[in-house]
Amino acid sequence: MARFEPVLLRNVGVEGSRTLRVYESRGGYAAARKALTTMSPEEVTEITKKSGLRGRGGAGFPTGMKWSFLPKDRTITYLCVNFDESEPGTFNNRYLVDHDPHQLLEGILIAGYATRATTAYIYIRVEFHETFHILQRALDEAYAAGLFGRNIFGTDYSLECYIHRGAGAYVCGEETGLIESLEGKRGWPRIKPPFPAIEGAFRKPTVVNNVETLACLVHIIERGPEWFSSIGTPGSAGPKLYQVSGPVNRPGCFEAPLGLTCRELIFGDDFARGMAGGRKVKGVIPGGLSVGILTADELDCKLDFDDPKKYGLLGLGTAAAIVIGDDADIRHVLLNTCRFYAMESCGQCTQCREGTGWMYRIARRIAEGAGRSADLDLLVEQTFSMGMMPGLSICGLPDGAVYPIRTIIQKYRAEFERHIAQQASSRTVEVIKERVPSAYELPILGQRPAQVTWPTAASSGA
Ligand SMILES: Cc1cc2nc3c(=O)[nH]c(=O)nc-3n(C[C@H](O)[C@H](O)[C@H](O)COP(=O)(O)O)c2cc1C
Ligand code: SF4
Repeated sequence: MARFEPVLLRNVGVEGSRTLRVYESRGGYAAARKALTTMSPEEVTEITKKSGLRGRGGAGFPTGMKWSFLPKDRTITYLCVNFDESEPGTFNNRYLVDHDPHQLLEGILIAGYATRATTAYIYIRVEFHETFHILQRALDEAYAAGLFGRNIFGTDYSLECYIHRGAGAYVCGEETGLIESLEGKRGWPRIKPPFPAIEGAFRKPTVVNNVETLACLVHIIERGPEWFSSIGTPGSAGPKLYQVSGPVNRPGCFEAPLGLTCRELIFGDDFARGMAGGRKVKGVIPGGLSVGILTADELDCKLDFDDPKKYGLLGLGTAAAIVIGDDADIRHVLLNTCRFYAMESCGQCTQCREGTGWMYRIARRIAEGAGRSADLDLLVEQTFSMGMMPGLSICGLPDGAVYPIRTIIQKYRAEFERHIAQQASSRTVEVIKERVPSAYELPILGQRPAQVTWPTAASSGA
């Protein structure tokens, strides 16, 4: 791939990049000034549509189109900045704000103006202590310079901005969970419709956008929509912040045009520079945990909005690659995955609350050496009975659970079967293979395999 000039990360490594003085000396706030003083809100929305910008928070929804859903006759509009960043493996928002907080603030000004927002709330993940202070300092500086508040750039546009620290739950990153939490309630996602554009924060029209989405606006206004849409692959325009964690030589956050392959991201000199300690790739979870897994033979998957679907994945997600080395036990990968969703389900919907719990218990049984081949079928079957896509849940958390669980089992079935065959030959408890116990008969959490008692043919009546 030809060398790409970073724009989102252009201030990273520049001394004083968090300060207003340095940000402005490098062209900062010129895009917001241009938008507010020379364009109408409708023009900014049209430019955003034309650029092809799709949300970077995971769902990839077209940004300009989302803004167009706001009612025309509204008097109050809220802009919620989704900085919950709770998807496992994801750290692009934090990286961006840690190095260049004014870039986010400038993006908020542009989006706020386009949507005629009166107040912007930055909902920041509670664990980001240092980042919160970096952002608050930048916001204070921007207020002092008249960049927020009344009559910005001498126009009649006014915008107040507040930073709200999150409630520490994955589901608070879901846009309506975020809104509930912002309103001071338990972060339980709302039934939709009504969508936030019609009835969001404090029951008023609301737009929720991710940090990176908003940062992209600065460059779209500065360089034009054609420049933005010329980068990337068809349907996936613009630069993207890719993240890599796991046993690679250079984990980190890297900027590249959308459509970078997973192989380039892991092995490219400009990116993670290959596996550490002589390991080989066993698999990659390329978009945050919720998208599913790619095997070592699938690394040519392009990380844009469409290609991952050809590999059985949910989509691009957050473009955060969790690399798994060949020394990892696939049973533990499955266990960690199931544990996360079981712990983070908010409990409102039965199939999500109970389903993620069952899956965790079955995965635990497999990891503890008491699994059976039928458990793998049971887990895969369960992945088709949960989620918003089949119309069973309030939010997309269970959709995010089923993709990794299904793809881990389907793509690594032989390895699971090998473990199960080995454990079966060394196990002393008798396993009745022809019958799958109901959920009530599953081993209780915390039981070790030696204590597991399986139903016998006589006791089960089989
Ligand atoms: C369980 C769950 C967690 C989510 N967590 C986040 C998050 O941490 N950050 C984020 O931007 N979007 C998250 N989303 C997606 C948001 O609901 C929403 O689509 C996004 O903030 C919209 O912004 P965008 O259009 O700029 O991408 C999550 C969705 C679900 C279902
Ligand atoms: S799907 Fe799960 S996380 Fe989402 S609202 Fe229902 S129970 Fe809560």
